[in-house]
Amino acid sequence: VSDSKPLDIVVVGASGDLAHKKVYPALFALYSQGLLPEKFHVYGFARSEFDESAFRERIESNLTCRYVPESSCASQMEAFLERCSYMSGQYDDPESFKALKASMADRHDKAANRLFYLAIPPKVFSDAVRSLGEAGLADEAETNGHWSRVVIEKPFGRDRASSDALSRDIAAVFDEDQTYRIDHYLGKEVVQNLMVLRFANLIFEPVWNNLYISRVQLSWLEDLDVGGRGGYFDHYGIIRDVMQNHLLQILSLLTMESPLDLGQQVRNEKVKVLSAIDPVRMDELVVGQYTANTYKGREQCGYLEEDKVAPDSITPTYAASVLHIRNRRWEGVPFLLRAAKGMDRKLTEIHVQFRHVPGNVFCPMRNNCLPPNELVIRVQPDEAIFIRFINKVPGLGMKIDTGELDLTYAKAYDHIIPDAYESLILDVIKGERGLFIREDELAASWDIFTPVLHQLEEERVQPEPYPFGTKGPEKADTLADRYRARWR
Ligand SMILES: NC(=O)c1ccc[n+]([C@@H]2O[C@H](COP(=O)([O-])OP(=O)(O)OC[C@H]3O[C@@H](n4cnc5c(N)ncnc54)[C@H](OP(=O)(O)O)[C@@H]3O)[C@@H](O)[C@H]2O)c1
Repeated sequence: VSDSKPLDIVVVGASGDLAHKKVYPALFALYSQGLLPEKFHVYGFARSEFDESAFRERIESNLTCRYVPESSCASQMEAFLERCSYMSGQYDDPESFKALKASMADRHDKAANRLFYLAIPPKVFSDAVRSLGEAGLADEAETNGHWSRVVIEKPFGRDRASSDALSRDIAAVFDEDQTYRIDHYLGKEVVQNLMVLRFANLIFEPVWNNLYISRVQLSWLEDLDVGGRGGYFDHYGIIRDVMQNHLLQILSLLTMESPLDLGQQVRNEKVKVLSAIDPVRMDELVVGQYTANTYKGREQCGYLEEDKVAPDSITPTYAASVLHIRNRRWEGVPFLLRAAKGMDRKLTEIHVQFRHVPGNVFCPMRNNCLPPNELVIRVQPDEAIFIRFINKVPGLGMKIDTGELDLTYAKAYDHIIPDAYESLILDVIKGERGLFIREDELAASWDIFTPVLHQLEEERVQPEPYPFGTKGPEKADTLADRYRARWR
């Protein structure tokens, strides 16, 4: 990081799950690679009472030395933890944040840059932002020639209206340029590679359109339940939790036009393509809910039996839908999206299905044709890119088969794959906004799902039951059949 000013990082909600599992470990990873400024301090802020040593012990339990040799691991952790302090306060109380500000002022002899990471539940986002503003922590830094930035975690509202209201609350305190809406999928290595794959190679772009691509499939699957977050999940559901953000972000990088730079222009192109997507129709949406089953030798309860889930909940844990992009490049190509918990695997994958070769001499009259080319981009686990193509089987005679060009990252690279949070927090510190969601982008993505989300709730559409640890409801296969597709 070239900026030599001191940096104060404030983790608001420091007692929580995200702070411990992701934010502090990512900060330590950056520190241990020498990527934080020489003078930095991390302030934990939340309502819970902790003394400093108990708080540090809590953080330490999740730190790992991926980037430093075992021999210096303990000393590196100790040095990092010495720069972590904790303060208890209320999110809606500006006085608490003024006390924090005073503590920050005591620590540095010159003005520091400020990064506020809001690792708190959405219901307190607006309170915390308002308090930061009233404590003079948001804009003061800007006028003194040093920056103040706020990182906000999804979910950004429940629909277009609540998202707009949240954006207004944030905008009353922080300018859009100071606001970093994080979608950690954009920090994942393979997702960051999508633009490189498309725009740094010549071979994909000429065929990256409706003339050569017949359909695209995006899947986000987990073989997990709601994991103790039943209350949160029941209020949001899989469409808001995954489809409207992670899958739409991946889709926009996959389908946007080539940007003129890697900053604002990426966001401009994403907004354009998101605005060209029709709102999802109810007849092109299947929702499901997992039911009790024995999976991998253990008894798994159904979604309705989960803690803090309403017994008559209609919140989907499974959703499959088809999106259509009304522009010259993509008109006619269905984008099949699927997001689900309680499945038989954990997988996030993109399948780009190319058309059959016209007049293919290897399958005259389209009889016994092998499947056409397919590009598979696996985001997680086991990051990989495959191209499936038709190949002659070695030997006498003309036997053909499907072969695979395989770029599995673990085989191809001897590199540590950084956690998405490391990459994104570093971008915030550097002021690189390309991988963060701008307000208009967010609005465009809510427009795609808001009408159908309201319809699901108003009509109390009952989700299709499917046993935990299986492939989801059969109705989703019928939806895919309409586009001559099979879920992969
Ligand atoms: N956990 C993840 O892996 C993950 C992934 C992606 C996005 N996110 C998002 O990141 C944010 C934080 O997630 P999290 O899992 O860390 O949340 P969390 O553990 O439920 O909450 C973080 C902290 O906020 C405070 N808090 C909890 N409920 C509150 C309430 N009703 N009113 C006021 N304060 C409350 C608690 O601290 P005190 O009681 O000490 O104040 C808690 O330790 C959320 O917006 C979440 O959607 C989380």
